[in-house]
Amino acid sequence: MSKKLFIETLGCAMNSRDTEHMIAELTEKEGYEVVKDFRDADLILINTCSVREKPVSKLFSELGIFNKKKKPSAKIGVCGCTASHLGRDIIKRAPYVNFVLGARNVSKITEVLHKDRAVEIDINYDESEFAFKDFRTSTLKAFINISIGCDKSCTYCIVPKTRGDEVSIPDRLIYNEAQRAVDAGAKEIFLLGQNVNNYGRRFSGEHEKINFAELLKRLSKIEGLQRIRFTSPHPFYMDDEFIEEFATNPKICKAMHMPLQSGSTKVLKDMKRGYSKEWFLNRVEKLRKVCPEVTISTDIIVAFPGESDEDFEDTLDVLKKVRFDQIFSFKYSPRPHTEAQHFTNVVDPEVASARLTHLQSFHTQILDEKNATQLDKVYSVYFEELLPNHFVSGRSDNNFVIKVKGSDELLGEFRDVKITSIGRTILTGEIVA
Ligand code: SAH
Ligand code: SF4
Ligand code: F3S
Repeated sequence: MSKKLFIETLGCAMNSRDTEHMIAELTEKEGYEVVKDFRDADLILINTCSVREKPVSKLFSELGIFNKKKKPSAKIGVCGCTASHLGRDIIKRAPYVNFVLGARNVSKITEVLHKDRAVEIDINYDESEFAFKDFRTSTLKAFINISIGCDKSCTYCIVPKTRGDEVSIPDRLIYNEAQRAVDAGAKEIFLLGQNVNNYGRRFSGEHEKINFAELLKRLSKIEGLQRIRFTSPHPFYMDDEFIEEFATNPKICKAMHMPLQSGSTKVLKDMKRGYSKEWFLNRVEKLRKVCPEVTISTDIIVAFPGESDEDFEDTLDVLKKVRFDQIFSFKYSPRPHTEAQHFTNVVDPEVASARLTHLQSFHTQILDEKNATQLDKVYSVYFEELLPNHFVSGRSDNNFVIKVKGSDELLGEFRDVKITSIGRTILTGEIVA
């Protein structure tokens, strides 16, 4: 009988890909199979996120529940970004945890499994050329890492301390991985990195000089590959060459994530983002000029230390000018190992909450106005997921989630869909071709 693995994944797409890597290693080398209920498992893994405070406290309450209700012989491992920054303290606080495996060490999963109380959290460990086995939760869309770590030092962000310095993965390995995914049925690839458009800055071995635009050109040559997406690009590295490749390469999906964080040049400076409000607006203008159909999403942090009412107004001003298609917004959360945790000019928590609410309702208003224009528009949709009540959903090239009545025959297919009704997170339509 095969051993059973339960794995819970928090955090970003890079964590989801790490989870796939660990599943691949554990199924191929150790004979595990994935189960949905942790009470059936012989091995319980939590792949953690550390980017804001909340998920960390959630981790320990969850570990307690796992420990109480698991099979007596089952092992528990804590992986990912919180594992990287808390390390052995996790075992001190929850002594029943069998091992701790950092976000940059997931290739060692089959090693730590057999050691008692192993803690592997070296952020200098180089996994950029590790030959992970292939495993994907979906055969239709393949997530592929193009770099590990992050070389920026945004003052609020813990990621460089959990994932280490940035190393690009050799383009040949990325190409081969994409080719294998396409051979297995994927028509779309999703390239992942904390700073994708800084690709090529550093390789661990000898490598020809190549940037992100060139990588995109090479990958788009793969026959049968129809769509390329990526996240996250950094506004600082959005030079004309990158924007022009984005606009003119027909395989690149016309949805750009542009993480603004703040609209105030002063706050951006305190965050060490490396760009100003004007640069950001200039990049949006350039992008829309060469690619009018593009949709733009963003990340925003409100109430960063020292953010005044005027600074917040600047953020609203960018929202008004850009009219983003999607916003991920957060209240600033002080994190260990970051510069900003020592900043003393903190924003009053009530003001912070009020700003977040205001920002979100301001954006919802913009979104409702934009959505109202969607009726009767026709999009080419790549269908990926079965929904309840005989609906199937997929995404348009510019990243709208669209559902139609249908069955699993549509999965992995492209259809032209006319929008018939509008919701804030999902549009409904009917197939016209
Ligand atoms: N590399 C990506 C971001 C990864 S973290 C980028 O630069 O865009 C994802 C998002 O979490 C960030 O864009 C930011 O908006 C948010 N975030 C990061 N640290 C945070 C903190 N300390 N408090 C609140 N939000 C934070
Ligand atoms: Fe964090 Fe900044 Fe790196 Fe993004 S670019 S992961 S926000 S340090
Ligand atoms: Fe979280 Fe680590 Fe991703 S902190 S957002 S899982 S890089």
